[in-house]
Amino acid sequence: MGSARTHWDTVYKTKAETAVSWYQPHATRSLHLIKSSAPDQAASVIDVGGGTSTLIDGLLACGFADVTVLDIAQSALDLAKSRVGRNAGKVSWIVADVTRWTPVRTWAIWHDRAVFHFLTERSQQDEYLVALKVATEPGATAIISTFALDGPETCSGLPVQRYSPAVLASRFGDAFVLTAQGHENHLTPRGSKQRFCYAVLKRMA
Ligand SMILES: C[S@@+](CC[C@H](N)C(=O)[O-])C[C@H]1O[C@@H](n2cnc3c(N)ncnc32)[C@H](O)[C@@H]1O
Repeated sequence: MGSARTHWDTVYKTKAETAVSWYQPHATRSLHLIKSSAPDQAASVIDVGGGTSTLIDGLLACGFADVTVLDIAQSALDLAKSRVGRNAGKVSWIVADVTRWTPVRTWAIWHDRAVFHFLTERSQQDEYLVALKVATEPGATAIISTFALDGPETCSGLPVQRYSPAVLASRFGDAFVLTAQGHENHLTPRGSKQRFCYAVLKRMA
């Protein structure tokens, strides 16, 4: 995964955070799904592969007090910290490759937009799912967004695996039940449309 880290560090060092294809001025759908899944703002939330996403700004503005952003790229987290300014101290920041990470606590909500889809090898997906299991308990919610079946075949120049919510649910296994799903046409900063799918998965066991 050394090359993945180099790839992502270079992306965030060479492109403006508002110019990357996955940029959203407001992470509206993710925020809505998190708010619908969390009992209240005391619920802990981790944004896995959060990069420079504005989701963190939205979570802080909504009063979520236990928020974590994990990303493989230190450069992404440096940019995000600088953007949120004095609120950076309210966030836990973790630099890690999710497929090689051993979580030391658990979260109520695990959010991932456009990270799982880069794991095109089954063994990497299994490693991700091990981290997810360690980082959550039964009753937790995983909100996973990937390119949809009719979405692009690559993202940031890397091949991706495309999903439907049902296929994502079956890949996450019997411990997770699909409780909500949806699709979204994301408009990139350059004006192209990218079709995403969203799956809300409740951990039952
Ligand atoms: C397409 S971007 C999406 C960023 C963010 N989730 C969003 O929606 O704006 C993918 C992100 O995943 C991170 N990433 C890629 N592979 C990763 C891995 N194995 N572990 C942790 N983060 C990873 C990248 O650094 C990048 O920030």
